[in-house]
Amino acid sequence: MKFTKKELNALEKIIASRRDVRGNSFTSKKISQKKLNRILNAALHAPSVGYSQPWRFVIVDDKQKHKVYKHFKNSFDKSKLKFRDRPVYNSLKLEGIKESNINIAVYYKKPKKNVLGQTYMKRTGEYSVVCAILNMWLTARAMNIGMGWVSILKPKKVNKILDINKKEYKFIGYLCFGYVKEFYDEPEFKTIKWNKTNKIKDCIL
Ligand SMILES: Cc1cc2nc3c(=O)[nH]c(=O)nc-3n(C[C@H](O)[C@H](O)[C@H](O)COP(=O)(O)O)c2cc1C
Repeated sequence: MKFTKKELNALEKIIASRRDVRGNSFTSKKISQKKLNRILNAALHAPSVGYSQPWRFVIVDDKQKHKVYKHFKNSFDKSKLKFRDRPVYNSLKLEGIKESNINIAVYYKKPKKNVLGQTYMKRTGEYSVVCAILNMWLTARAMNIGMGWVSILKPKKVNKILDINKKEYKFIGYLCFGYVKEFYDEPEFKTIKWNKTNKIKDCIL
């Protein structure tokens, strides 16, 4: 199968306009099961080391969501110490846990036997899960659904809240999905000048 220039343009547009969506942008509109399945299906099409497909998902319920939010708040407050030299950090909204319609915790299932390709680089399993997350992010964006990745969380605490107590599962990411009022044209951290945007030449070693 060959793609057209128009399809390539559409893909590039989706990639360039994907944003991390935070609580100040989510609306209360619900995501249908059909749309959620489409997002999960995109994850299942991700590349994975040795075709191990090591991703696992927890669809977080409302009670758990509130507990995760409480934990986030606590962790965020503690993290402020690390950014004392940049006071704007204290006023940033860095999640949309409660405002978003669906929260999904993504886990890596550690292999029980040898995985082709993972012999010397153990973390390729986790990289595979991250590939799945990006597929979800882009597919959501293509459906005009926002996603925000929350990482100011302690994995052990998240596991406890979600009742994931087996050592074979490693917490990778906490994702918040929902419809949005608007997608910003550029990353918020660019807008507020937290970091500058790299060009290709800045990234070539
Ligand atoms: C692994 C990972 C963890 C992230 N964790 C957070 C987070 O905890 N809070 C947050 O506001 N954004 C988080 N982000 C989103 C980034 O801040 C965002 O991708 C970056 O600023 C670029 O903006 P954009 O995604 O809107 O283009 C995370 C992104 C990644 C890839």
